[in-house]
Amino acid sequence: MCGIVGYVGQRDVVSVLLKGLTNLEYRGYDSAGIALQDSGDIKVYKSLGKLINLKNELEQRRAEIKQPIAGIGHIRWATHGSPSLVNAHPHSCTCGKLVVVHNGIIENYKELREELSKKGCEFRSQTDTETIAHLVADEYSKTKNLELAVRNSVKKLQGAYAVCVMHKDVPNLIIGARKHAPMLVGVGEGENFIASDTPAIIEYTKRTIYLEDNEIAVVTKDTVKVTDIEGNVVTKKVETLPWEPMALSKLGYKHFMLKEIHEQPDVIRNVLNGKLYDIDEPIALNEVKLDSEILKKLNKIEIIACGTSLHAALVGKYIIEDFAGISVEVEASSEYIYRKTTTDASTLVIGVSQSGETADTITAIKQAKAKGSHVLIITNRPDSNMARLADSLIPVNAGIEVSVAATKSYIAQVISFYLLAMHLAEIKGSIDKSYLKNLKHELIQLPTKIEEVLSNTTTIQECARKFSSYKNFIYIARGVNLASAFEGALKLKEISYINATGYAAGELKHGPIAMLDETMPVLSILIPGGITYEKVLSNSEEAKARNAKLIALTSSNDKNIDVLFDVVLRIPQVSEILSPAITCVPLQLLAYYIAEFLGKDVDQPRNLAKSVTVE
Ligand code: M6R
Repeated sequence: MCGIVGYVGQRDVVSVLLKGLTNLEYRGYDSAGIALQDSGDIKVYKSLGKLINLKNELEQRRAEIKQPIAGIGHIRWATHGSPSLVNAHPHSCTCGKLVVVHNGIIENYKELREELSKKGCEFRSQTDTETIAHLVADEYSKTKNLELAVRNSVKKLQGAYAVCVMHKDVPNLIIGARKHAPMLVGVGEGENFIASDTPAIIEYTKRTIYLEDNEIAVVTKDTVKVTDIEGNVVTKKVETLPWEPMALSKLGYKHFMLKEIHEQPDVIRNVLNGKLYDIDEPIALNEVKLDSEILKKLNKIEIIACGTSLHAALVGKYIIEDFAGISVEVEASSEYIYRKTTTDASTLVIGVSQSGETADTITAIKQAKAKGSHVLIITNRPDSNMARLADSLIPVNAGIEVSVAATKSYIAQVISFYLLAMHLAEIKGSIDKSYLKNLKHELIQLPTKIEEVLSNTTTIQECARKFSSYKNFIYIARGVNLASAFEGALKLKEISYINATGYAAGELKHGPIAMLDETMPVLSILIPGGITYEKVLSNSEEAKARNAKLIALTSSNDKNIDVLFDVVLRIPQVSEILSPAITCVPLQLLAYYIAEFLGKDVDQPRNLAKSVTVE
């Protein structure tokens, strides 16, 4: 979603802002803009579409850009008002002396707009953000103190904001404020940065100060002052970012998605590192901060998440119930937050999120905490809002994920669920010890098996070419791989815009079978040795009888499969219960190659944002 970067210091301000915005590009956006402050003026430059258009605009107007000393930049993902030049940020007050960029949604912007219009403010856009520009300018006209003006203004805002403000009359200064939207300060030597997320600043500094809700940062090139909303100075810790700038490079891969798919074996090794090192030792999951006596008696878990994280949660449900015998409910955060739930103090609530910033999941977690539940967060961003709300935190350590389509973060979440389920089962004594040892052994072998899949993708690429012209797909599976079918279909939808739906194979006969004919390929996930193999096989035959083209994803070497299916995607032998941690890989690759073959914007699919920070 939207991204913010601000800079004050000696470097070339335009380059710093453009680099910062480029590093946030992966979040998804439809327009971009920057405001540059030189010793006498503030100028705004905007463009529609990708950042290259903004770069071209700046290039054309290079002559008028003097020596900027500070600047703020923004990429916008439209919420209020269509994607257009006039709605792109930065927004200015009526006289143009004050500029703002903003992430989030101001809920009371209509009332404020009406009030400010009556005072003579001239509104030019349809955005909620422009209200902030006029509001702060109005407060500034009363106090002539920009910091106070920002404080007084944010007190009047309802909703979510990470906002940066600059004023022509107060050069060399950027003020940032946040509530329910992330914002941080990057600390440098004789220069400072402000941003909505760490990739924006990582090229320049790893030293960061995270703002909390209702905090305001006053940033010059030499100083950073953080206050609460009343103006009391808050002492903040300077933290060091764990990422390297390298994480933002494609390292020779055509797309970040392909690079991230290939990183998965190492991601699994990372997740297992220190937690599962010997099959004879219990899982070391010290991150779960609940007393083992409480865990022993635990009989209800609720998992809340969105999108791909929701699919990881479905795998989690299956294996926690299977290994530990604890009843688990999984719900989309957006549904959870608008109903009367039965969550109580004895429920363990697990929030799953790659970004740790998904608005619906944050709201759901806050609701669960208000009911007294212990909240465990599984996230790839230990520096996120969600992580800060956690009573227990499992960081999945997948490394920064740039492609909008989640891949390596999914596998890291799934593996974290295996560790959690085994940990709970060990505490409860609910699983056969030698069975568990075998599973641990297999888990350790998984990265090598995935490397095998990644080392030969010829069949997957041929399959992608063969099926790329189809407009609809059905993915079927049963049991623990049902989540894999959902996830595989989601991957295809989001990056190729092809309609794909995952179904429980047994449900095919209850409706979806009506759609089957030669135009609707069916992809079946078949893992032999488990309880569902024969069933999915016969469901696939039913599809064949309706002329559907069939794709198998299987570890079976059965020759009959080659006869029944049009294409067979083979994976190494794996037990059914662990197979979601490997079936996801060819499904990601299939989606990738189809999208790539169709020439789609794989890393930044249309209409999507990497982190959905508004409801
Ligand atoms: O950051 P989160 O895991 O909370 O994000 C949830 C979804 O928005 C996300 O998984 C989305 O579905 C991805 N684009 C899927 O690839």
